[in-house]
Amino acid sequence: MGENSLPADGGRRRLVGTRRLLVAGALGVLGTVTALSASVPAGAAAGTLGAAAAQSGRYYGAAIAAGHMSDSAYVATWDREFNAVTPENEMKWDATEPSRGSFRFTSADQIVSHAQSKGMKIRGHTLVWHNQLPSWVSGLSTSDLRSAMVNHINTVMGHYKGKIYAWDVVNEAFADGGAVGTLRSSVWTQKLGNGFIEEAFRAARAADPSAKLCYNDYNIDNATASKTLGVYNMIKDFKARGVPIDCVGLQSHLSSGSVPSNYQQNIAQFAALGVDVQITELDVGGSGSAQADAYRRVTQACTAVPRCTGITVWGVTDKYSWRSGDTPLLFDGNYTKKQAYTAVLDALNAATPNTSPSPNTSPSPNTSPSPNTSPSPTRSPVTGACSAAIETTNSWPGGFQSTVTVRAGSAAVNGWTVKWTWPGGQSISSLWNGTQSVSGSSVTVRNTDYNGSIAAGSSTTFGFTANGTAATPSVTCTSP
Ligand code: G3I
Repeated sequence: MGENSLPADGGRRRLVGTRRLLVAGALGVLGTVTALSASVPAGAAAGTLGAAAAQSGRYYGAAIAAGHMSDSAYVATWDREFNAVTPENEMKWDATEPSRGSFRFTSADQIVSHAQSKGMKIRGHTLVWHNQLPSWVSGLSTSDLRSAMVNHINTVMGHYKGKIYAWDVVNEAFADGGAVGTLRSSVWTQKLGNGFIEEAFRAARAADPSAKLCYNDYNIDNATASKTLGVYNMIKDFKARGVPIDCVGLQSHLSSGSVPSNYQQNIAQFAALGVDVQITELDVGGSGSAQADAYRRVTQACTAVPRCTGITVWGVTDKYSWRSGDTPLLFDGNYTKKQAYTAVLDALNAATPNTSPSPNTSPSPNTSPSPNTSPSPTRSPVTGACSAAIETTNSWPGGFQSTVTVRAGSAAVNGWTVKWTWPGGQSISSLWNGTQSVSGSSVTVRNTDYNGSIAAGSSTTFGFTANGTAATPSVTCTSP
């Protein structure tokens, strides 16, 4: 299987045709992904990308360069269409700490202030990367490098404490070739060893506990690529050992025709590890309907997975894109909307509601007026104040993911309990938006302190991943 991939080695680069290393049966969790059908929400379709994304509880952002903010059409398009931003270069190490201990935030502050004044989400990009690293960093001894890394994280995150939605804590640490899990050789691995990633995430959590902490990389869009498997294994390991990580960023520098067929499956698999997934640097080389189709597929893949919380395109207009020759963005050089724009807008408007931000350390709360409508959910009879419906939202050999919708009847409920019995030895591995108690095959899930109150006729959801064969047992709901 051949496809285009992009080496992210800085500067402007050309698309290079590469043959990806496929790992048969990789991830151990590959299998069919239950298609999540999207329904058009009631009400008028939104007319901008940010507003359309917000309908399903997501953001739609753009990378912004401070140097272009004197272009009024650039800022007007950003303000009108996007509800999130990532500074394209201004928060990188060479911009924020060009010499040791001397920090500069002027350009990044310009973007952050503007975004805050418009109520936009801000993604921080990036703290620890081998690229755009000033030369003084490479000359440090091991112990100096370690303290410089922690000091950089503390100072930059400290400067923006409470203002950043998600930080790309470590960027592009994995190699493009080699055995699964091979890290790129860099000053970080050479002096601190592979543990530098964990060290960075632990420091980042302490520096700003309110920010989501992401690992961000390119060429991890294909579920079966060895690089993807390496990142997947790292996140699984971090989760198992309690290393703080909240999200994975798929950069998704793509070309028309190169969106992997398993792109949605890939997102769902990462999400099943208990992290949010964000499309962080999307751009798709091409034009016309082929480009629009690729953008549509990426958008639909994200909106089909509840924990895919937002999309950022890597720029506003083709004319300022780092790969402008590929015309990869949604607006042309005159800020005219391209066919791809309409495809994205329509796909966002068709997304199933998926509201509420997720807490840092557990999956996204997912309160929706209607459940995701994939295979018919198994519903409990409406015998009391509430009812529940369980559905399988993803499955793979040996495991599955489910969403349970808890709905209030004609009166509001304050506290709910959902029960069921597993038919065939299933066991929950991770549950969110609820507290569980298990006795043999009997499962009881109660509300958490933030989702016990449901207005009359409204609903909330909880979810879980489980081991075993996907099952939709009968569920009951009671409310005190
Ligand atoms: O601002 C200077 C200008 O003063 C100077 O005259 C000119 C000379 O080359 O360089 C300008 O800086 C350039 C900067 O972009 C701003 O345009 C740098 O040379 C150039 O290397 C830099 O490229 C950035 C690249 O990261 C560096 O690796 C791109 O703008 C930026 O879009 C790109 O973003 C990366 C993400 O951070 C990580 N993922 C891949 C992505 C694309 O490469």
